[in-house]
Amino acid sequence: KMSKTVLLEVKNSIGYITINRPEALNALSSQVLTDFNDVLDQVEQSEEIRVVIVTGAGEKAFVAGADIKEMDLMSPIQAFEYMTFANNTFTRLSDLRQPTIAVLNGYALGGGMELALSTDIRIGFEKTVVGFPEVGLGIIPGFAGTQRMSRLIGTSRTKELIFTARTVKGQEAYELGILNKLVSAEELLTSAEELAAAIMKNAPLAVEKAKHVIQVGSELPLKNAIRLETEAEALLFSTEDKVEGMRAFVEKRKPVFNRK
Ligand code: CAA
Repeated sequence: KMSKTVLLEVKNSIGYITINRPEALNALSSQVLTDFNDVLDQVEQSEEIRVVIVTGAGEKAFVAGADIKEMDLMSPIQAFEYMTFANNTFTRLSDLRQPTIAVLNGYALGGGMELALSTDIRIGFEKTVVGFPEVGLGIIPGFAGTQRMSRLIGTSRTKELIFTARTVKGQEAYELGILNKLVSAEELLTSAEELAAAIMKNAPLAVEKAKHVIQVGSELPLKNAIRLETEAEALLFSTEDKVEGMRAFVEKRKPVFNRK
């Protein structure tokens, strides 16, 4: 199909996902969610992609939310299906084995904020605008924003943001812990690429396991989560990268990792 609403480009082991519907500020229509799933299929199957960077096409927005014009016409059952589809999609994103970075190049509202919350690391700039406008539309965040934001910055701050529907700009978003980094407009993409490079210097399977243990462990009782960590750690002792990493330290040289 010619005009995809979600693009994937692979360069230097980085998978660049671009939400490409700038005429609607990249709002998450059902078509966008379908195309996003196709891109996730490719990322999951790729042997080349080691870090994923997600951003929005155009000058103004990362993603301005769920598609309000589509939701305007939905029955409760259709809304249930739409929210479920989006949540399955975002959970797939959050479960990717590769580390993911969201570059918030403008508005990240409602569903756009929720998309960003499903990545591992968020980078913004002064013109980044985040927030949950939903209660102003008579609904609540429906793509897991109530849950993922609470887990990131706590329930009380999340309640304030959701109850007031106020928007928050780059600096405050950084102070709240929604953004990992606040950079200049020119540095938005390069800082994500520098972060990707810093990640890719390390043993790929170790990074993958670290993400898995953090993700899965956060939903387990502490005791079970620590056990999961111990088992993952032991498994990594079976890898060539562990042998190489420690040998390189002893031999006072830089390790050369090869994914095994
Ligand atoms: N859904 C559908 N279309 C949208 C959209 C959205 N979320 N956001 C923007 N658009 C469309 C606009 O309708 C407009 O299209 P037309 O030219 O056909 O009228 C186009 O994108 C450009 O938008 P604006 O003219 O509004 O641009 P602006 O610069 O004046 O304002 C904005 C920017 C403040 C982000 C404004 O577009 C806005 O408020 N958008 C909606 C934000 C929002 O409420 N998001 C939450 C949605 S609810 C949700 O996400 C629910 C959930 O969790 C499941």
